[in-house]
Amino acid sequence: MNVLILGSGAREHTMAWKLSQSPQNPTLFVAPGNAGTASLATNLPLSVTDFGGIAQAVHQNNIELVLVGPEDPLVLGISDYFAADPQLANVPVIGPNKTAAQLEGSKQYAKEFLIRHGIPTAAYAAFTADTLAEGQAFLTTLKAPYVLKADGLAAGKGVLILSDLAEAQSALAEMLVDQKFGAASQTVVIEEFLSGIELSCFVLTDGHSYKVLPTAKDYKRIGEGDTGLNTGGMGAISPVPFADEAFMDKVHQRVVIPTVEGLKKDGITYVGFIFIGLIKVGDDPMVIEYNVRMGDPETEVVLPRIKTDLLTLLHATGQGTLHEVALEIDTRTATTVMAVAGGYPEAYEKGHPITGIDQVKEALVFQAGTAQKGDQVCTNGGRVLAVTAFGADYRQALAESYRGLSHISFQDMYFRKDLGFDL
Ligand code: AMP
Ligand code: GLY
Repeated sequence: MNVLILGSGAREHTMAWKLSQSPQNPTLFVAPGNAGTASLATNLPLSVTDFGGIAQAVHQNNIELVLVGPEDPLVLGISDYFAADPQLANVPVIGPNKTAAQLEGSKQYAKEFLIRHGIPTAAYAAFTADTLAEGQAFLTTLKAPYVLKADGLAAGKGVLILSDLAEAQSALAEMLVDQKFGAASQTVVIEEFLSGIELSCFVLTDGHSYKVLPTAKDYKRIGEGDTGLNTGGMGAISPVPFADEAFMDKVHQRVVIPTVEGLKKDGITYVGFIFIGLIKVGDDPMVIEYNVRMGDPETEVVLPRIKTDLLTLLHATGQGTLHEVALEIDTRTATTVMAVAGGYPEAYEKGHPITGIDQVKEALVFQAGTAQKGDQVCTNGGRVLAVTAFGADYRQALAESYRGLSHISFQDMYFRKDLGFDL
C-alpha cells in the first residue's frame, strides 16, 4: 500500500518509522518531511496546505491512504477537499473534516461541545470586540489567575494566564480590539482557572468505534522546573504514572465515551485521532482542550508503545472497521527528550551540522527540524530531534534517552535535563 504522511516534524518521522515496520511493507511518502523521513520514505516538496499539489501527488504516486500530522490542513478542510473530489473520495484521509476540526480550530466551539455533552471542563464565557465591556466586567466576577484564550489557531501562543485583574482586562482589550493574535483573537474565551497536573489522552476513531491509546505527559516550557517560555514540547513520558486504573476509568466514562458519542449526536463522522488535553483536579479529570491530531512530542512515546501494526489500525480507521482490530500495548515506559537549537523558542540559527546520530544504539532518534546537505544532516528548525527510549519505569527510560543524547551534538544544542521532575 502507498501511504502519504503530511508534516515535517519528529511526529511524522515517528509515524513513518512505525509504518515502515508494518509486515504489509507499505511504500511511504512524506510531504514535506525532513532528513529523518528521507531515510524511510520519499519526501515530496509540498506544503501541507497545498491541497492541489497534494491531490496531484496522490494521483502520481497511487497513494491509497493519507495520514495528516499537523492541524492546519485539517482546520482548512483537507478531508472535505478529498471527499468532494470524485477522483480522491476513495482515498481515506486519517484526520477529521473541517467541522470537527473546529474542536481544535475554535476554543469557543470546543467549549460549546464540552458543555453540550456534559463533559467536565472549566466554566467559561466568550467575548468579541462588541462585548469588550461585558468581558471586562466578567473578569471582576472571577478569582485570579485569569485564563484568556484566543479562539482561533495561534501556534500555541494564544493562551494567557495572568494574576492581576487590571492586566487581564487590558490584555482582553489588546486581544479583541488590537487583534494581538490577529483574526485568531477576534473572539476570546475567558475561563475559570483549574489547578492540577496535566496529561494527555489519545483516541483513534473511525466514527463508529474507537481505541484509547496510551496516555502521555509532555513538558512544554523551555526551562527546567517548567519555567520560561512555552515551546512546541521539550519531551514526553508514556504512560503517565499518576493516571492509574481508577483515574483512567473516570477519563473513559466521563470524557472519552461522551466525546465519541457527542460527535455522533452532532452528526459528525470523525475519522482520525482525538488528542484530549486533561488536567487532574483532585482525583477528577477535566478537559482543557481538544486537538484533532496526535501530539508532538507525545507521538514519539505513544506510537513506539503500540504493538499492533499501525497500518492495520489506520486502514481499518479509513474503512470504518476499527472494531475488528485488537490494540496491543507495550507495558514498558517510553520517554523522549527533545534537543533544540540554542535560543529556541525565540530567535535561533539553522544550518549547523549534527553529529553522532548513527552512534545512538540504546535509543531511537526521531528527527524534527533537520535537512540533508550533501551527506551531512544539519539543523533546520527550533526543535531539532527527539530521542526516545524504553525502560521498566520512567527513570530507567529517561536514563537511556539521555545516554542516547550524549552521542549527539550540534552547535548550541540544548535539552531539558529534568523531565519527570514533577512525577
Ligand atoms: P490550551 O491551548 O487550551 O491547551 O492551553 C494552553 C495551556 O494553558 C494548557 O496546557 C494549560 O497549561 C494552561 N491552561 C489552559 N486552560 C487552563 C485553565 N482553565 N486552568 C489552568 N490552566 C489552563
Ligand atoms: N505537545 C502538544 C501538542 O502537540 O499540541
